[in-house]
Amino acid sequence: MSRGSPRKAAFSVWGYIGFFAATAFVAACSILLYAAARARYESDTAVALLCLGNILFLALVCTLIDFLRRKMFVERPVRRILDATRAIAAGDFTVRLTPAHAWGKYDEFDAIMENLNRMAADLASTEMLRTDFVANVSHEIKTPLSVICNYASALQDEALPADERRAYAQTLAKASQRLARLVSDILALGRLENRSQCAKNERVDLSEALRGGVIALERLFDEKEISLDCTIEDVTVCTDVHLWEIVWNNLLSNAIKFTPSGGRVCVSLLPWEGGAELTVRDTGCGMSAETCAHAFEKFYQGDTSHAQEGNGLGLALVKQVVDILGGEIAVQSEPGKGSAFTVRLRGE
Ligand SMILES: Nc1ncnc2c1ncn2[C@@H]1O[C@H](COP(=O)(O)OP(=O)(O)OP(=O)(O)O)[C@@H](O)[C@H]1O
Ligand SMILES: [Mg+2]
Repeated sequence: MSRGSPRKAAFSVWGYIGFFAATAFVAACSILLYAAARARYESDTAVALLCLGNILFLALVCTLIDFLRRKMFVERPVRRILDATRAIAAGDFTVRLTPAHAWGKYDEFDAIMENLNRMAADLASTEMLRTDFVANVSHEIKTPLSVICNYASALQDEALPADERRAYAQTLAKASQRLARLVSDILALGRLENRSQCAKNERVDLSEALRGGVIALERLFDEKEISLDCTIEDVTVCTDVHLWEIVWNNLLSNAIKFTPSGGRVCVSLLPWEGGAELTVRDTGCGMSAETCAHAFEKFYQGDTSHAQEGNGLGLALVKQVVDILGGEIAVQSEPGKGSAFTVRLRGE
């Protein structure tokens, strides 16, 4: 079936021609009947009544034909569309309409039905994403919350030795920090997704900002005894430096988190097509092809045992930021050999 521009369903050129032909037919028949009646009957009243009866009969036939045409080709699809929109409005996104292809043609009703099907499918997947998101958030919140509840009640025991009390308090602090980070990541993601955080377009020295970002994480590199290699060339671009901070903070903190002690992390910032290319490479645990394919999804964590801290939102934030900046991100990784994330942004 052709998917060009849809045929007019309600009244096409052929509809007008048909209507004209029917009217002309009634008028012509009336004149002919009048002529025939005049020749046969003497009385004017009889001629007039006969003509009137015939005109009424022919008009009735035409009206009947038009009624059936409307019923089949206009009212029926309109009623199906109405029922479907009612179901969608009531929250049933499984509704799908089969285009009728009246007269074997793709008409406007078929186009409306196909658009409605697409809309219902989009709504269904948005609804699924929303429920998944709510389920994930509730699950991620539940874990630190139950830690806080349990340790807070354990701390009420006055007989608790001082060192245990200190350890419990530290666990409490950690769980609340995790909760606070989760909430701020979700808020950041929401802001970025709704574009309420518009990208600024200022000329910034990215190299200077990146050096600051790396220095801020120096303590974490030292704590894990990970050596750091930096190749930071002077790159000045028109961009939003706060969004770039989200990118390198997440990539660097992942590199630190997934690289064992004694490993190495290399950071490079180079000019690229008038813009910038940032690469964060590590010698950490690396990722399987499956983890690489899902790493940018919200709440996805390669290690489901939750042995590593985190909520699985870091790379989702990075992806969102890269989309807003109009850049691209690529990942290369091999289990046991390490990973390399590259973000590229063209200049204007
Ligand atoms: N450098 C890396 N090396 C190995 N695996 C990585 C690396 N970066 C990301 N991953 C994998 O991708 C997953 C998703 O990363 P992401 O940053 O979104 O979440 P996270 O680091 O687990 O949690 P969060 O960022 O919220 O603290 C990680 O759980 C991990 O399995
Ligand atoms: Mg992360």
